[in-house]
Parts: sequence; C-alpha cells; structure tokens
Amino acid sequence: MPNDLGFLLNYNELKEDFPLLKKTGIVYLDNAATTQKPRQVINAINRFYIELNANIARGLYELSLKATKLYEEAHEKVAKFIGSEPGEVVFTKNTTDSINIVAWMFIANKLVSRENSIVVTISEHHSNLLPWKTIADIVGCKLRIAPVDKNGFIDIEIMKELIDETTVVAAVGLASNVTGRIQNVREVAKVVHQYGGYIVVDGAQAVPHIPINVKELDIDFLAFSGHKMLGPTGIGVLWAKQDIVENLKYPVQGGGAIKSVRVEEGNIIVDYADMPWRGEPGTPHIAGAIGLAEAIEYLNKIGLENIKKHEETLTRYTLKRLSEINSLEGVVGGFSAENRLGIVSFTTKKYTPYALATKLGLEGIAVRAGFHCAEPLHRYLGFNEGSVRVSFYLYNGPEDVDKLIQAIEEK
Ligand code: ALA
Repeated sequence: MPNDLGFLLNYNELKEDFPLLKKTGIVYLDNAATTQKPRQVINAINRFYIELNANIARGLYELSLKATKLYEEAHEKVAKFIGSEPGEVVFTKNTTDSINIVAWMFIANKLVSRENSIVVTISEHHSNLLPWKTIADIVGCKLRIAPVDKNGFIDIEIMKELIDETTVVAAVGLASNVTGRIQNVREVAKVVHQYGGYIVVDGAQAVPHIPINVKELDIDFLAFSGHKMLGPTGIGVLWAKQDIVENLKYPVQGGGAIKSVRVEEGNIIVDYADMPWRGEPGTPHIAGAIGLAEAIEYLNKIGLENIKKHEETLTRYTLKRLSEINSLEGVVGGFSAENRLGIVSFTTKKYTPYALATKLGLEGIAVRAGFHCAEPLHRYLGFNEGSVRVSFYLYNGPEDVDKLIQAIEEK
C-alpha cells in the first residue's frame, strides 16, 4: 500500500468505537446496505430503555416529559444536519417508507391524474421506482424513464425533454447505490420547478456520506434512512418543504396527528396538529430517533466533508487496484472517480457475482452481490448477471482494499 494515497481519516482509531468490528475482525465493505453502529449510539439506545422509557407527547410525568424532549431534540438535530427546520422533519421507518408516503400523498391530495406524467431515471433503486409505478398504474398517468450516460450520470438535456407541463413529480436519487455517482439534482429541480412540478430526492446513499443542504439543493422532498448513517434500523426521515406540506393531507392517519377530533351532526371534524406531529401518527420509534440523533452527533464530530474526502481516497485506490487485476471484467458506471461516493460495483471473468461474494464472505470480507435492488440500471449498462459491490465508510482503510484484491486474486 503506497503512503501517499491522499486524505484519510484516522480510521483505525475510529474503529475502536465499533464493538462488532473489533469483536469479529470482519472486513466490512457493505456499508451501502447498512453501516455498523458505534458504542455511543448503542449506549444512547440502551440508556433510553433503561432510564427513560415512556411514550412521548402523552404523559405529564417526568419520564414522558424527558422522553418527549429527547425525541424533539432528535428532530432538531436531523433538521440541522440537512439545513432545514425541525417542523419539516418527519420520522418514518426508512427511505422506502418515506418515498411511499410521498407517492401516496400525491394520490391522497388528488395532485396527480391521467393527464400527468411522473419522471424517474433508470438508475433509481427499486424503492424509488416501484412506488411511482404503482401510483402511475392507479391513476393511469405516464411514467417516463430517463436514461443515464455510460458512467451513470443523468443527462440534463434528456431530463429537459422528458419533463414538461404535464410533469407533477421528478423522482431522482442524489447518489446511486450501484455506481456511487452523485447526481446534479439542483439542475433537475430547476427544470421541474419551471413547470410547477415537485422534485422528490432519494437521499439514502448520499446523506450519510456528503454534506447536504436541502435549501441549497432547492428540492421539495428528501428521503433517507438512519441505519445507513450509524443509526439503528427502523428509523428513517421524510423531509418536506414546509410551504408544500402545510396544507396537504398525510396518507397515514391516526392518534397523535391531531389537536382535536369531534363528531358534529354525524360528521368527524378534525383539527390537525402542527408539523411534524401531523406526519407522525401512532407511537413512533422513539429509541430509534434518539439513536439517530446520537449518530448525527458522531458524524458531525468527524465532519461530513472529511468523510467524503476519506471515501474519495478509498474509491480512487480501489479503482486503481481493480484495474490491475487480470480477471476484471467491468466496473458499473466506469472507472472515473468523479462525483462518486465510496461505492464500486464490478464483475470478474473468473467468478459470477454470487460466487465471488460467497468466496469473499468465507474469507471474512463482507460485500453485496446481485442487482442491489437496481436491476434496470444493471441491465441497461449490460451487467445482466448483476455485480459485486464494495461500499466504504469512515472505519474502512486501504488495508481493507488490499485484502479484497488479494482475496479476488488468490486461487
Ligand atoms: N438499499 C440497500 C442497498 O443498496 C439495502 O444495499
């Protein structure tokens, strides 16, 4: 391993915070699927259940008041992390849940009809394709699918052709979970706004790895998951611009979302609560929100800009090492490291993706194999058997890349 690879975090020191990595010694390269959890996050969740467990916004006793305060603070921390206001952040289960909620919001508020169009790209994760296909099928409107270039980038000129006055929504991933390419969603936002439509951004991969500011991006909705950014599973975020959702009905309804419900002359009269409560009916994942807030504290201490640079170094190094392997067949989205997260998906001539991932797994190296829930993109770029994906985070180092390459090359 050369000494002058570029900027790297003190990843060996950071690894000390991750009990699973220490205990198992695993080379964990499946961070786009889920990340490991630092003890700070695990402790915050434990502390909640051991010292503070109570339902929120319902009890007037000390435990409930404290739990409510922590839960509210979690909204504030998440909001600040993405450059928004606390009232704009709604906790959900995960990215998929968030995108489904937005999609159904279009139906619940009669914002989409037969005459409309919805625009997506071929590089979307299934979770940012299937909700829109479902909505399009229900209302009978057009679902337009934008191709990407061979590197996996959106071509804004093609988006300009596909987005028009019929378009109610463009749904775009900020970064691909296969190529790692970071898309220029600000440009897409400009086009869709020109026609009065909305832009929904799948931030599942990008938000954990690069600094995000929803105002600078000028987007309308953003979805992401806690578990891909050191937080627990089961907690996700749906951010929506306040002036858009202020008067919109949420497709999920129930207790906690209202100020008052009365029956008057046989009709149910509802006064809804303010945001974010209106978007969070039912008892939420309180411990999950607290765990996510702790994960954000952790990420903030390191700095997203530093995490981004660290992953850029690892990606460049991986692409270089892969290019030196004789059996390499291809890299999905090409070899350039330009505008790319710490994600590299590739195929070899020697092994199928599943065979290679199994071999690596037996050698203590965790990667993902298959289509990674993005089958259309794989097939479009000619990777009909899928690929093997490696994805980095702040605790990975160049030694992990060396172990990967060595394991691929050995018999
Ligand atoms: N969406 C996750 C991935 O890409 C699970 O692996």
